[in-house]
Amino acid sequence: MKMHTMVVGLVAATFSMIAMAQAPIVIKFSHVVAADTPKGKASEFFAKRAAELTKGKAKVEVYANSALYKDKEEMEALQLGAVQMLAPSLAKFGPLGVKEFEAFDFPYIFDDTADLHKITQGPIGAGMLAKLEPKGIKGLAFWDNGFKSFSANTPIKAPADLKGKKLRIQSSKVLEEQIRSVGGLPQVMAFSEVYQALQTGVVDGTENPISNLYTQKMHEVQKHLTLTNHGYLGYAVITNKKFWEGLPADVRGQLEAAMKEATAYANKIAQEENDMSLEGVKKSGKTTVYVPTKEERMAFKKAMAPVHVKMADRVGKDLLQSIYKETGFDPNKL
Ligand code: LMR
Repeated sequence: MKMHTMVVGLVAATFSMIAMAQAPIVIKFSHVVAADTPKGKASEFFAKRAAELTKGKAKVEVYANSALYKDKEEMEALQLGAVQMLAPSLAKFGPLGVKEFEAFDFPYIFDDTADLHKITQGPIGAGMLAKLEPKGIKGLAFWDNGFKSFSANTPIKAPADLKGKKLRIQSSKVLEEQIRSVGGLPQVMAFSEVYQALQTGVVDGTENPISNLYTQKMHEVQKHLTLTNHGYLGYAVITNKKFWEGLPADVRGQLEAAMKEATAYANKIAQEENDMSLEGVKKSGKTTVYVPTKEERMAFKKAMAPVHVKMADRVGKDLLQSIYKETGFDPNKL
C-alpha cells in the first residue's frame, strides 16, 4: 500500500473514532397524542432541556401521534429497548400486570388536581413507580393531563343516556366496569383508532380529557360533550431500566434534572391546555358542550360508586383505602 493511501486511511479512521466518541446518546421518546397537548409539549420541553443540560451529550427525539408505536406496542418496544422513553397513560399499566395503576381509573376518586397530587407527588405514587422495576421499567415521574368527560352523538345528562352505547375506553378492567355501571358497552381500542371509529359509527362515544378530544378533532365527529369530569387521565414517564442504569452518571444526573423541570412544566400547563381546548371545542360550533348541574353530577357519581366495591380486589383494598385516606373520598357516603 502506498504511503499516501495509508495516511488518508489513518486520518479517516481517526476522524470517525472522534465522531463516534462525540455522537450523542439518542433517546427515542414515543407517545400517542398530538404535539400540542400537555404530554406533547412537556416531552418537547424535556428534549430541549436535556440537550441544554447535557451540552449535547444526549439527544431526545420525540415521536408524537403514534408515529412509532400504538398504545400496546410502545410498552413492548420499551421493554425490548427499541425505544428508550414513553409517557403512557396510567391506565396502560394494568395490561402490563401492574394492576395497582388502575386505582387511578376509579370514577371520581379525585375531586381535583390537589387531591391527585397527594398521590402522584407523594409516597403512594413513588411506591407505584417502584412496582415497575421487575418489568425492566424505571418510572421517572408523573405528568398531569386532566379529568375525562363523556362525548356522544346524543345528549348526555344522566347515566341512562349512556345505556346501550358503545363507548371507547383504554384497556383497563376498572374502566370496563365503569362503563358497565352506567349500562354502556365498553369497547377497548388503541387511541390512534378512535377518531375513525367515531366517524364511521364503530363506536357511539368515548371519554377523554378535553385536550385529547380537541387535538384529535374528535369533537368534529361527536355532537355532544358533557363535562362529567368523572375520572382522571394522566401519565407516568418511564424508561428502559437497563438503558437508564447504563448511562454515564453525569448524563443521567443531567437528564434527571431536565425531567424535574419538565414535570413542573407539564403539571403547570395541563389545566391551561385543557381550558384552551375547551374554548376551541366551543368555538368550533360542532359540539354542544353541556355542564351538568350539581344534582346531575351526583347522579353519575352514585351510578358509578359500585365500581369501587366491585373492583377493589383487583387493585388491592389496602391501596384503595390509603388513597381514600389522602383524598377523603368515600364511595359509601354518596
Ligand atoms: C388514551 O388512550 O385515551 C390515552 O392514553 C391517550 C393519551 O396518551 O393521553
